[in-house]
Amino acid sequence: MSLWSEISKACQLLSQGDVVALPTETVYGLAGNVFNEAAIEKIFAVKDRPSFDPLIVHISSFEEVSKLAQKWGQAEAVLAKAFWPGPLTIVTPKTQQVNPLITAGLESVGIRMPAHPVFRRILRELKTPLAAPSANKFGRTSPTAATHVKSEFSNSVFVVDGGDCQVGIESTVVAVHETAQSVEVKILRPGMIAHSHLKRALEDAHLKKLIRVSNVEASPLAPGHTDTHYQPAIPLIIAHRTPSQETATQIEKKFSFPSLSRYSELNLNPDPRLAARDLYSEMRRLSTSGIKWMFVRKSNDRSGEVWESIWNRLDRAASMRID
Ligand code: TXA
Ligand code: MG
Repeated sequence: MSLWSEISKACQLLSQGDVVALPTETVYGLAGNVFNEAAIEKIFAVKDRPSFDPLIVHISSFEEVSKLAQKWGQAEAVLAKAFWPGPLTIVTPKTQQVNPLITAGLESVGIRMPAHPVFRRILRELKTPLAAPSANKFGRTSPTAATHVKSEFSNSVFVVDGGDCQVGIESTVVAVHETAQSVEVKILRPGMIAHSHLKRALEDAHLKKLIRVSNVEASPLAPGHTDTHYQPAIPLIIAHRTPSQETATQIEKKFSFPSLSRYSELNLNPDPRLAARDLYSEMRRLSTSGIKWMFVRKSNDRSGEVWESIWNRLDRAASMRID
């Protein structure tokens, strides 16, 4: 099927209230019409996602914000202008029109304008925002290629193949608290758009307000952020060095693997942008390569704010940490 036929089939399914998997620049999403309750219910059912974990709403134009957000502050407008379309989700008080199923009963909704041309094309065609969590079973690694989605749902979900995702990790999620004197940005989930980028965009806008940007790890504001998430199909171990034979034996015992089981290193590109792009596909490749476990080295040169976003995912994906 050509990409054009896939896009038109996706539009047809979405307008009938079905769900389809679509590429975004971050990871593939499992999309459904935000104004169709059956579609939203289907997203949760297909993913086995608990109802307490809210979905992100995707839009294609700035005008659509007013349907979803109660008010849009100056700082939110600055961030949207600076980073949309792109990998930033802004959590903001919602309108009545947003079904509480989407927001897991919260009074706020996460909004993002994705950059991927296929997703944007479909949004414009349908003229409705689409809710889309990552297209994986709850708690598992996000898909960054159409083949990942197909294996995740055993071909039961229609996928538009838009190629490999270029960002590779999920969007940065922020909540903004703005008063007459100050702007406080809380990073609920770190991503490719990092602390310094958010701060610089706000400073460059000369709002004449005190600006604070902070990381809010594992906040109750971000209910989806359970300690274990993004889990690959085989154990991932964070190690400070290549495990010795003795350490490998301990790991085999802990997971009840046969002795001398094969394992591999999860290699990461020294450039954090490329490391993020390839992270989940490498995790999936190793998971299906016949080895029993994999390890990733937490070395000093893998530090800096983009690396922190990558470590945020690896920390949750890991089953064990060793020296
Ligand atoms: O890059 C992405 O964000 C991808 C693509 C498909 O857009 N989507 C994605 O969705 O990663 P999901 O559902 O896997 O992760 C969204 C996270 C949720 O875990 C949730 O905690 C947080 O965003 N979130 C959504 N709405 C929220 C809200 N109203 N308040 C706090 N956190 C929210
Ligand atoms: Mg997810």
